[in-house]
Amino acid sequence: MSRDTVNVALGARSYEVRIGQGLIAQAGRQIAPALRRKKVAVITDDTVAALHLMALAKSLEAEGIVMTALTIPPGESSKGWEQLARCTEWLLDQKIERRDVVIAFGGGVVGDLVGFASAILRRGVRFVQIPTTLLAQVDSSVGGKTGINTAQGKNLVGAFHQPSLVLADIDVLSSLPVRDFLAGYGEVVKYGLLGDAAFFDWLERHGPAMASGDAGLRQYAVKRSVEMKAGIVSRDETEEGERALLNLGHTFCHALEKATGYSDRLLHGEGVAIGCALAFELSQRLGLCSQEAPSRVRAHLRAMGTKVDLSDIQGDLPGAEALLALMGQDKKVVDGRLRFVLARSIGDAFVAEDVPPDLVKALLSEALQARG
Ligand code: GLY
Repeated sequence: MSRDTVNVALGARSYEVRIGQGLIAQAGRQIAPALRRKKVAVITDDTVAALHLMALAKSLEAEGIVMTALTIPPGESSKGWEQLARCTEWLLDQKIERRDVVIAFGGGVVGDLVGFASAILRRGVRFVQIPTTLLAQVDSSVGGKTGINTAQGKNLVGAFHQPSLVLADIDVLSSLPVRDFLAGYGEVVKYGLLGDAAFFDWLERHGPAMASGDAGLRQYAVKRSVEMKAGIVSRDETEEGERALLNLGHTFCHALEKATGYSDRLLHGEGVAIGCALAFELSQRLGLCSQEAPSRVRAHLRAMGTKVDLSDIQGDLPGAEALLALMGQDKKVVDGRLRFVLARSIGDAFVAEDVPPDLVKALLSEALQARG
């Protein structure tokens, strides 16, 4: 199968996202032209290291590139000050200089953390993203948002720092647990819902076969998602406007993630899927979209086997009022008002500033009651 390349057009900071099979095995050849000396520092996590680091090392070695690697513990708790300090100091110990390249090899946690370490190391070194989860391939590795979590919340400390290259190897998706793949799918479906009705139609037709493992369908889904993200990022890199559309489903998601303690009761992409369904329901109640739209969204998510409803979350959840309060702490709050991404139809989302809180509360109340 041929490879796809999507350009993220950002002037002097433009870069390519290369998408295809076998890209890790070819990483050395892909990265070599970007190097000014044949040395790279790779940061990954223990899970990815066990599965894929050997393949990456071999491909770098084949090009005569010396690799030095650091592994961090897997999971969201690594995305904080402790591992940031560890990574930056390790990079300094490895004598990584401004002209060198750091490789972020892993999912969203590794990409965000290593991207941020690269942004602040010597006031900014180049980095390459090799995303190994569906979520990272379609969302977090593209667009230059990097950062860490603090006691005050998620992603509140960070920087926009664009990678120099992204290599999305479709083959690595086969090593993901089904639940992780489907969680990443929440971000894929988001692109259809926010701006491409034809892509949503395509996902309705091909989503289940794609989830079952068809590499060609997976490559197309990743490519189309990245194309959409690249277009939005190149028009609005620092989220002054249009980029906020990428937060479809995220206001609900962040409240639910907080309510479940960022535990594996709810993975981020699962929260996005539930949040998208709720955002369409809210849009319908506001008279913005047809009744059919939220039903279609929910039916598709159900067919894919992802989480769809609050009843798909195990264990207790706080009441509607408390969930609403958690939304109020979201960093997407502007001047104390809740911002929601709502939709006029599938493929036509927009940012709404003045959603009546009572309506959101009523929606959450009903969704909570449906849990029984
Ligand atoms: N994940 C949302 C964004 O990159 O803007």
